[in-house]
Amino acid sequence: MEFSIKLGSPEKQRSGCLMVGIFVDGNLTDAAQKIDKAANNMLSGIFAQGDMSGKVGSTLLLHNVPNILSERVLLVGLGKRDEFTARQYLDSIRSAMRTLFATGSKDAVCYLPELPLTNRDSAWCISQAVLAAFDTTYRFDHLKSKAEKNKHTLCKIQFGLLSGKPTAKQNASITQAAAVGQGMKLTKDLGNLPGNICTPSYLAQQALNLAKSHKSLKVTVLEEKDMQKLGMGSLLSVTRGSDEPAKLITLEYRGADKKQKPVVLVGKGVTFDTGGISLKPGAEMDEMKYDMCGAASVLGTLQAIAEIGLKLNVVGIIPTCENMPSGSATKPGDIVTSMSGQTIEILNTDAEGRLILCDALTYAAKFEPTSVIDIATLTGACVIALGHVASGLYSNQDTLAQELLAAGEQTYDRAWHMPLWDEYQPQLDSNFADIQNIGGRAGGSITAACFLSRFTKDYRWAHLDIAGTAWKSGKEKGATGRPVTLLAQYLINCVQPD
Ligand code: BES
Ligand code: MN
Ligand code: ZN
Repeated sequence: MEFSIKLGSPEKQRSGCLMVGIFVDGNLTDAAQKIDKAANNMLSGIFAQGDMSGKVGSTLLLHNVPNILSERVLLVGLGKRDEFTARQYLDSIRSAMRTLFATGSKDAVCYLPELPLTNRDSAWCISQAVLAAFDTTYRFDHLKSKAEKNKHTLCKIQFGLLSGKPTAKQNASITQAAAVGQGMKLTKDLGNLPGNICTPSYLAQQALNLAKSHKSLKVTVLEEKDMQKLGMGSLLSVTRGSDEPAKLITLEYRGADKKQKPVVLVGKGVTFDTGGISLKPGAEMDEMKYDMCGAASVLGTLQAIAEIGLKLNVVGIIPTCENMPSGSATKPGDIVTSMSGQTIEILNTDAEGRLILCDALTYAAKFEPTSVIDIATLTGACVIALGHVASGLYSNQDTLAQELLAAGEQTYDRAWHMPLWDEYQPQLDSNFADIQNIGGRAGGSITAACFLSRFTKDYRWAHLDIAGTAWKSGKEKGATGRPVTLLAQYLINCVQPD
């Protein structure tokens, strides 16, 4: 798909489809007015006849509109003008893209990003439109023996400007959004792949492939014997029951001077979580193939910033293994020693994410990071607390938390700041080791974060619990690609603070 900015009035465009907006009161946007005028009030007539309500997300496809050079006009409902904010814009652009891709159009000129929004400029609207195009056309059907026939014919979308010239910011927003869109696609593909294909070795191969196609990326893969030497007893305790070898993948992206300290991203890469000896119930257990979505978001984000050529150093660390029950699996009550030297009593083998992350977080210190952000499908409790809307955000440093919240707000990939207070820490006291790996039912997402905080004292650290946001269940089952836009935006902001 090709994206660009096009200057000119809609009625003069020769394209497969023009996309313009209408509000619930029948008010037409500037671009829609131009079409209406050229077409002898056809659009206002349609509203008057009640065929288009103007409600957010509603669409009406028109053919052969008089005096228009394009083949189609897609009228897009925008809701009430005074309620038209980012949320409504996103709903209408997504629905517009979905309808557009269902037509036979080869190209389109979209005038929706020109709408005035408070706190968001047209560059933002353009990047969200690009991301919506990626998102609504995403399919994961290559594992079906017959590919589905819903392939669209569209290959070019232009964003129409009625006046002025495309700005550098608008052009940059297209390149950035396209890179982020591709990164999200990688994240979704890896998430959606089943556990028998997407193994720890497969993830390592993906990282190697990324490094092959981007000179700015360097990859190293540690094997179990290397981890043994580093004393990663906690990580290794999780993989004991599995026949698949665990890996510790490190991707180093060099976008700035060698001397500049990196941002480190750590992603949970449990390619299948059965719970281990503390076996999970059977219902929906297939969804535990998504337990590597943190890892996938690190790969997707690194691909995006390498594509953009962001002037920043970033390191991605991915601890990856399976969590399986077997004769050699770790048992409840087992005590292991982490790389930090702290001993851990494993009371529940299903609380495995924190066990692999803690060693990866200790390992992260060697990169002398400016900040470390881990991303993990860590707790069911986070889903209970925040549902499927916000990711849970924890941090040992308030500015870092604010920066991540702001990046999430900017891209509408939102997180919610959760407490990491000392009062929760005693829930992790163990009778037999330095710490235990579960803190009881109360505040389950918080105590998981508290566990990680014991290993991140030496640097600025934040933790994103994406258990509720990384994938959708039910009929629409599939990876969402979150929080790639949040992470990419955070990194972009590290280079150009607003
Ligand atoms: N991967 C799961 C968390 C999870 C569960 C994410 C359901 C999304 C949906 C994690 O490894 C896990 O099993 N956590 C346990 C922790 C508990 C044993 C303290 C959980 O949340 O039940
Ligand atoms: Mn688990
Ligand atoms: Zn898990």
